[in-house]
Amino acid sequence: MSDLQALQDQAVAAYESATTLDELDAAQQRFAGKRGELTAVQRTLGQLPEDRRREVGAAVNAVRARLTEVESQRRAELEAERDRVVLAAEAIDVTLPPRVPRRGTLHPVQETMEAMLDILVGLGYTVNEGPEVETDWFNFDALNTPPDHPARGLQDTIYVHPFDARDEPEPDRTTGLLLRSQTSPMQLRTMLSQQPPLYVAIPGRVFRADTMDATHLPMFHQIEGLAIDTDLSFADLKGSLVVAARALLGPDVELRFRPHFFPFTEPSAELDARFEGRWMELLGAGMVHPNVLTAGGLDPEQYRGFAWGMGVDRMAMLRHGINDLRLLVENDLRFLSSL
Ligand code: DAH
Repeated sequence: MSDLQALQDQAVAAYESATTLDELDAAQQRFAGKRGELTAVQRTLGQLPEDRRREVGAAVNAVRARLTEVESQRRAELEAERDRVVLAAEAIDVTLPPRVPRRGTLHPVQETMEAMLDILVGLGYTVNEGPEVETDWFNFDALNTPPDHPARGLQDTIYVHPFDARDEPEPDRTTGLLLRSQTSPMQLRTMLSQQPPLYVAIPGRVFRADTMDATHLPMFHQIEGLAIDTDLSFADLKGSLVVAARALLGPDVELRFRPHFFPFTEPSAELDARFEGRWMELLGAGMVHPNVLTAGGLDPEQYRGFAWGMGVDRMAMLRHGINDLRLLVENDLRFLSSL
């Protein structure tokens, strides 16, 4: 009986001093396993006389029960400790910034274009696109631009197939192919294909025979706006443009309308915004000229419209504080990724 007590003390000490689950398993094998010391004692029970056998047998069972209890308690402690260590090692700090690679971003011109179109869609406009190769008729004639207007000259417009009055005394809509110099021809394509009320925004590339410098590109981007309805006034034009400009440039932007001239609008205006103390031209606008409505198959007595055309590249310059348009086309990633 005293050997049993000594064995229990030894086993409890071994269990409690185990510092890993492996050590605990080894101690368990040594004392309570199939070939363990307690099991060895149990096997000697048969040699005892009947009355002792029962007493010692009960004592062996008590020791085994005690060892099982101590072992499972220690096992629970060691498992908790192991879990704590594993969890600490695998912990993820969800507050750290992600380490995803830089995937690329929209070009500032594209970003500006999409921001403006989002605003216009919010105002109820639909977005439409048109051809970059246009005809004389859509780009100029239908827009009330007289044949001798300087913009029509080879100095300003890039022709694919110049119209020559000697070949074709009566120009129609298909002679004189050019790279559109503005998105305004889409005003006519829209009027001729859809019925008012019309509220359309037309983004796209335009082309001019310009030499590239800080404020000019031979290819740049415009967004054209066209609204045609029965009761539109210049106040609607101003209101719409002020709302859009504030949405794009911030609620505190200082704006001004200046009288101007365009062949296709009457009256016409330009909208300026103040940046770092200087007034910058944002867009041209006006009430659609009756001749343009007529060319578009609409009765000027019945319909009125306003239209505007915005230079997206210059707008992108303002939004990103860039002072040279050429930066936008050089595709220098060091510049583009710094925006
Ligand atoms: N098309 C003009 C340009 O490229 C801009 C413009 C001015 C468009 C007035 C319009 C407008 O629709 O009403 O300079």
